[in-house]
Amino acid sequence: MSAKNAALRARFCEAEQGHVFRFFDDLGAEQRATLLAQLRSVDLALVKRLIEAHLVGEPTHHVPRLEPANVIGIATDSGARAGEAASRTAGEAALQAGRVGVIIVAGGQASRLGYDAPKGFFPIGPVSAKSLFQVHAEKVLALGRRYAKAIPLLLLVSPDNHAVTRSFFEQHRYFGLNPKDVTFLEQGMLPALDRDGRLLLAERGRIFLSPDGHGGVFRALTASGAVDQLKRRGIDTLFYFQVDNPLVKVADPVFLGHHLLRDAEFSLKVVAKRDAAEKVGVFATIDGRPGIVEYSDLPEPQRAARDAAGNLQFGAGSIAIHAFSLAFFERLGRGTLELPYHVARKKVPYVDDSGDVVTPAEPNGVKFESFVFDGLALAQRTIAMEVLRSEEFAPVKNRSGEDSPDTARAAWSSLHRGWLASAGISLPVGTPAEVGPLLALDAEELAARMASGTVGRLYVDGS
Ligand code: UD1
Repeated sequence: MSAKNAALRARFCEAEQGHVFRFFDDLGAEQRATLLAQLRSVDLALVKRLIEAHLVGEPTHHVPRLEPANVIGIATDSGARAGEAASRTAGEAALQAGRVGVIIVAGGQASRLGYDAPKGFFPIGPVSAKSLFQVHAEKVLALGRRYAKAIPLLLLVSPDNHAVTRSFFEQHRYFGLNPKDVTFLEQGMLPALDRDGRLLLAERGRIFLSPDGHGGVFRALTASGAVDQLKRRGIDTLFYFQVDNPLVKVADPVFLGHHLLRDAEFSLKVVAKRDAAEKVGVFATIDGRPGIVEYSDLPEPQRAARDAAGNLQFGAGSIAIHAFSLAFFERLGRGTLELPYHVARKKVPYVDDSGDVVTPAEPNGVKFESFVFDGLALAQRTIAMEVLRSEEFAPVKNRSGEDSPDTARAAWSSLHRGWLASAGISLPVGTPAEVGPLLALDAEELAARMASGTVGRLYVDGS
């Protein structure tokens, strides 16, 4: 063993993790190299902190104090509409000045959808069957054209789906975007631990690692040098969303304007929850700081509580659409501000002392993830803006039923039938409808294009 590798082994032994070298001497050269590369990526100081915080001593049961938080409501009166117009102007100015970048988190595994490829490949267009990635990329392209300034697109991917995602973009010629404007960022991986805080070996020559959660986006962007590149390009604001929502209004100028005019560091969009049981996080103040309470963590009394008007008291559902100041993003990425880790107890197959793989019947492993939205509590200024679900949120999460491809396509068709109706084309309820982003990004643009004769003939079943 080289001196460098011997030092690595010594560090793991000192951290009481020397068992990961148990089978080292029996491994082939390639397996040894894989294991050593994995071990070099493990931050032992972080592992120690995670053990101390989550595995040592009695678990603490702090019950946070939850209160509804302030949200900019949907503009219904003239004052609110004037505020919205001012925000739109500010947001458009930022887009014209090339200050805005777009980031999509797409490192997840699409396990609930049961789709055997990255979720972004899923064919979702109600008429065109365009993939989620294509829909998002075309919106970015169309916005760049509208504001005469190309918008950089960043994609958070995991080591597992990085290569296939990149080749998907290559195969589709980046959906018309300049490849120089598209950056793939690999998120970090964290080891799973057993109850005693020991790293788990998935094979004799491989430790078990899993993605560090979408909160890994901050570090991925900073450590890769992408933040510095964005700064050099004059970007100071990032628009963030999840790959699973085809209705997202990418880089919505009204939202960006609200965020910029209030000098916010971290902003979010919310919709009124469909019902008490909907599986979305809720925007609230948590022990006096803004934050999101994940659906699984919202206690039953608060989940069902209603105000005097009969609305859910904790009804501001997060649709995981955010705006960030790049400076704040960087503080999280460089570790000046630190996100907490969430713990999930899972069944993790492992290699036992005799080298056999054991598939446990009960959860034996602890996985750690950080969440983007925990950054809300660390931001100096935050704004939340309510939007209409029918216009902006139809996620593809499950194979069937709620939040499935069927419900997303139905919501999309309904929205675009409305756009077509305001441009003078009526379609019967239930007709699949889809206006491609390169034709129009909203009802006004579609109507203007039709009125100006730019669209000679509109194919109702495509654009
Ligand atoms: C998420 C939010 C929830 C919100 C809802 C809106 C979390 C924990 N919860 O729920 O508050 O109301 O969306 O749709 O996020 N991802 C990565 N890397 C990872 C893990 C996830 O990039 O390591 C990405 C996924 O690709 C996906 C997104 O993060 O785009 C959300 O992950 P998912 O686990 O599906 O969260 P939800 O339960 O849908």
